[in-house]
This record gives sequence, structure tokens and C-alpha cells, in this order.
Amino acid sequence: MRNSRKIMIAANWKEHFTVSQASIFLNKLESSVRSRQSVEVVLFPNVLTLQPLSVQLDKRKFRLGAQDGHFQDAGAYTGEVSMAMLRDLVHYVLVGHSERRHVFGENDDIAAKKMQAAVRNGIMPILCVGETLQERLAGETNQILHNQVTAGLMHLTAREVAASVIAYEPVWAIGSGESAKPDQAAAAIQHIRTQVEHLHGARTAGLVRILYGGSVNSHNAKAFLDVDGCDGALVGGASLQSHEFASIVEKAFRVHQERLPAHHG
Ligand code: 13P
Repeated sequence: MRNSRKIMIAANWKEHFTVSQASIFLNKLESSVRSRQSVEVVLFPNVLTLQPLSVQLDKRKFRLGAQDGHFQDAGAYTGEVSMAMLRDLVHYVLVGHSERRHVFGENDDIAAKKMQAAVRNGIMPILCVGETLQERLAGETNQILHNQVTAGLMHLTAREVAASVIAYEPVWAIGSGESAKPDQAAAAIQHIRTQVEHLHGARTAGLVRILYGGSVNSHNAKAFLDVDGCDGALVGGASLQSHEFASIVEKAFRVHQERLPAHHG
């Protein structure tokens, strides 16, 4: 069934690129990525790079997102950057990314507070959820997704959830070169959408965008974008190569074209 959800292709640059490297890379991206109205392309550089990129970037082609943001708007929190400080620079913020959860020990409670802080500051959060390999092998995937989604959305209204994005990123597929199988992604995405429906009703579940992330590249992107209910991709490693990333955006555009009713296409 067709839906009104716009495809998103997001580039999570993680802890890569200095300010000057990012500027050079953005130049390359601007020449290789074609402007496609039907595909929303969002870049997530490091926090230091957001300001210079916001000046340089072609706003018709790209939007900016932050990789993280603190849940308190201001205060004695050495090292943190708040959502209130990010709000004029970014449209989106990642919350609960697997590396925040597993490298920096952030739990569902922190993710819930960050989700709340993001919407309070008018930033659209992308809640990242996903199971570890151990959890998958133990048959706990659905339970983990259920817990992370429920906790992450805890403080949001239905309207706020509808405007949010959820990224299914199985931990074992991140940076491993071993992506999930499309049917695994399909099952997880379906499970997440059903969970949103239980929490906030069918209308909200039909509006929230759900992405897949984990070793997405130009070769496997189409298979994920073709997954029923998958509204885009959150790309790590492959987003650091301009042609590779541009090719993923182009694949998304073609998937969108294929979804159009015949009389449009
Ligand atoms: P990779 O595409 O490198 O697996 O990273 C995925 C990711 O963590 C995006 O947020």
C-alpha cells in the first residue's frame, strides 16, 4: 500500500572528518548527489562541524542532524551540548544510537529524556533501536525492540511520535559489513510499527517513518528500500564515500518512482 511518508537517506559520519575535511567532503557530495524532492537527505556530522556546514550547505539538497544532544537545556554538565544549543542548527537528532548505548552506557531512561528534550526544542528525533547478536540468538529481538520503543517514546504525544523517526539498527550489523537480511529487517520494522500502533493508534503508526541501518551500501540499499514499511536508510561507513552515498540516494529516488501510481510514471 502506498503511504505519504517521505523517504529519508541519512548519513551518520560518526567521529570522522575534521571541520576542513568535512567542508571538502560536502563539496564533493554537492556535486555527486542530485537534488531529489522525493528523497530527504540528512547529514549527521560531528557537533563542531555543524555550524560551518550549516553555512556552506545547499539547503535545497541537504538537511543537518546532530549525532547526539543532552537532555538538560543548560547547566553544570561538563562536556555536553544541549538540544537547546542545537535547535537553530539542525532539523534532526539521533537518540539512543547503538554506540551511545553500548560504548557509552546510555540506557532507555536517558534515551527517553533525550527524546523529550528534542521535541521540547523543536528538533525531530530519530530513535535508534536494535538488538545485539546475543539477544537475537536468544530469540529476544522482539522483546528488546518492544522495550526500547516503549521507553523511547514514553514522554511523547501521538502527534510528536508521528513526526518522529525510528531507525532499526541491529547492533551486530553496524560497521560489520554483515547487514541484516531484508526479511529480518521487514519483520523488525513491522514489529516496531505494530508497537507504535499499540501505543498511539493506527494513524500515528501510519505516519511515523522507520528506517533500516547497519552495513547499508549502494549494492544492498535497494533491497532494504523495497522492504514493506521501510522508509529509508541510516548509513554509516558508506556515507563517507561521496559516490557510494550519492548512489544510495539515487536508488532511493528510483524506489520512490517505482512506488508512484502508473499514471504518474
Ligand atoms: P554502518 O553503515 O557503518 O554499519 O553504520 C550504521 C550506523 O550505525 C548508522 O547510524
